[in-house]
Amino acid sequence: MTAALPAGNAIDKLRQASPTVLPSMLQCDFTNLEREVRRLEDAGVSGLHLDVMDGHFVPNFTYGLTIIDAFRKLTELPLDAHLMIANPGEYAAQFVDAGADIVTIHIEAAENTEEILGEIKSRGAAAGLAVNPSTSLDAISDVQHLADLLLVMSVQPGFGGQSFQEVALEKLVALRDNGKLTALLEVDGGVNDQTIGRCASAGADLAVVGSAIFAHEDYSARLSALMHTLRGD
Ligand code: DX5
Ligand code: ZN
Repeated sequence: MTAALPAGNAIDKLRQASPTVLPSMLQCDFTNLEREVRRLEDAGVSGLHLDVMDGHFVPNFTYGLTIIDAFRKLTELPLDAHLMIANPGEYAAQFVDAGADIVTIHIEAAENTEEILGEIKSRGAAAGLAVNPSTSLDAISDVQHLADLLLVMSVQPGFGGQSFQEVALEKLVALRDNGKLTALLEVDGGVNDQTIGRCASAGADLAVVGSAIFAHEDYSARLSALMHTLRGD
């Protein structure tokens, strides 16, 4: 197994690349994962966002450790694992061992958030903390300083292709306005040509995009267009 990048390395790479788009691989062609990864590498992406769903925390299943391991073998790009699972403390370390560079847990799913973020980091990955659209930022105020990445959900997690929820913009602005912020800010859900510019203006470093890339043939063209709008150039 190819080792994950050292935690600081993945976060530093993404920080240098920011603002940038991370493709959500939920809707990629799993019949040819290697080709999908190469197409995205050729398009110049800076990392891959991997959505893990367990059918409990969210009403949908996707994939787990074996697919993270497969991505790890296929690429040296930073792998950003978004765990939409119940009891993340039981599995977070295994996702680090499978090769994820960033492991993000949901505040709504974890009771011992501090401990889990610490375990992810001590295992050698970066630790992320996610908040659902209906969750107030107050829920993370005590622990957010322990996270390397804060993920603001702009849809209720579970499915790609949903509409962007504006509440995410307010949260991004609030987090960005906090002078002490050191974590990267990521936004996920319904990010497309119409919403990505506002995510950047609100302070997002990383914009996760599924449908607005994978519903199209030419990933390179889609990424160029989205990056252009994201960077406002
Ligand atoms: C939703 C996932 C997202 C999703 C993004 O639960 O976390 O990463 O796949 O897909 P789009 O861009 O289609 O909303
Ligand atoms: Zn996600």
